[in-house]
Amino acid sequence: MEQVRIFDTTLRDGEQAPGFSMDLDQKVRMAKALLELKVDVIEAGFPVASPGDFAAVKAIATEAADMHDTFICGLARANEKDINAVAESIAPAARKRIHTFIATSPIHREHKLRMSKQEVLEKAVAAVRQAKDMADEVEFSAEDAIRTERDYLVQVFGAAIEAGATTINVPDTVGYTTPQEIEDLFRYLIANTPGAEKAVFSAHCHDDLGMAVANSLAAVRGGARQVECALNGIGERAGNCALEEVVMAINTRADFFQLTTQIDTTKLYNASRLLSRLTGQDVPRNKAIVGDNAFAHESGIHQDGMLKNLQTYEIMRPADVGAPTSLLVLGKHSGRNALADRARELGHNLSGERLNEVFEAFKQLADSKKNVTNDDLKSLILGHAMNA
Ligand code: KIV
Ligand code: ZN
Repeated sequence: MEQVRIFDTTLRDGEQAPGFSMDLDQKVRMAKALLELKVDVIEAGFPVASPGDFAAVKAIATEAADMHDTFICGLARANEKDINAVAESIAPAARKRIHTFIATSPIHREHKLRMSKQEVLEKAVAAVRQAKDMADEVEFSAEDAIRTERDYLVQVFGAAIEAGATTINVPDTVGYTTPQEIEDLFRYLIANTPGAEKAVFSAHCHDDLGMAVANSLAAVRGGARQVECALNGIGERAGNCALEEVVMAINTRADFFQLTTQIDTTKLYNASRLLSRLTGQDVPRNKAIVGDNAFAHESGIHQDGMLKNLQTYEIMRPADVGAPTSLLVLGKHSGRNALADRARELGHNLSGERLNEVFEAFKQLADSKKNVTNDDLKSLILGHAMNA
């Protein structure tokens, strides 16, 4: 099966979001986890942003001096100073990529850059030409590509490829697109950009409308072969496409996508939790793949189904993502079978009338308590035995 490259931007787009900044040591620890995950590219930072970020990118590049499976990348605006800073900071890495970008949409050209179409195009070409001789690979991004005129996008991308870019990134900078629209856009760009066959097209989706993962997967359907994403979906505003979600979607639905990634999915849970610890930001309970509830079941019907066959209510195994085992949580929605099963695990075989009585007492307790613990259950069983 063809492979989709996973470009991780936890340490750049993710880290630049409020509440998620990391110091040098924390970034290096996170980068080690990303290397273990086997991401194809680590975007380690924006070196020109601060001396601290420059040092962090350099430290990560040093950590990856012998790592030939992962590119270390830094972000640069389309200017000489930014590109020099990236080139210098990623120099120690075994494999180096410079990621340079300029905005192309009318709103950015007119209000932010105050540049004509031609000026933007010339800047893009000059940046790629400069970067080409300073790293193994150059990626070019057209910021706000989604809101850019299609014919102009094709012109800029064609020029960037001719100048030496081998990855062409199409960011949905403001999380505005929809799955159908982005799939169609990728098909159009790949069919119409001169030299498209010499480059890998990449999706970079933000989550402002909660569609970053769906949009990234749609872009893949349209021909994207690199997805830019971040662990736990962190990133500017509502975040980036969540790495663990897009990887597990491709993996779990390989029958549909007919694609694969090189990610070691069994390391996903630990990497997600490490990020949470380093940034002090909890992973929401109901977060897909890595949340506490991702493999937890409380309702009686679901618990009964799980006890009969795990696949009744789980499409992945916790071990696939390195998460702790599935949990049948005892609460007010739980049923008799789950209670009897937990009691058995605790060394008590309940059946018939005895099970009914303990179950009744359990329901009363569960109405006043979110989660009935093993200790609660033991007291109920022993209390009932003493009263009997
Ligand atoms: O969202 C965006 O447009 C970006 C680019 C710098 C790739 O993060
Ligand atoms: Zn972004």
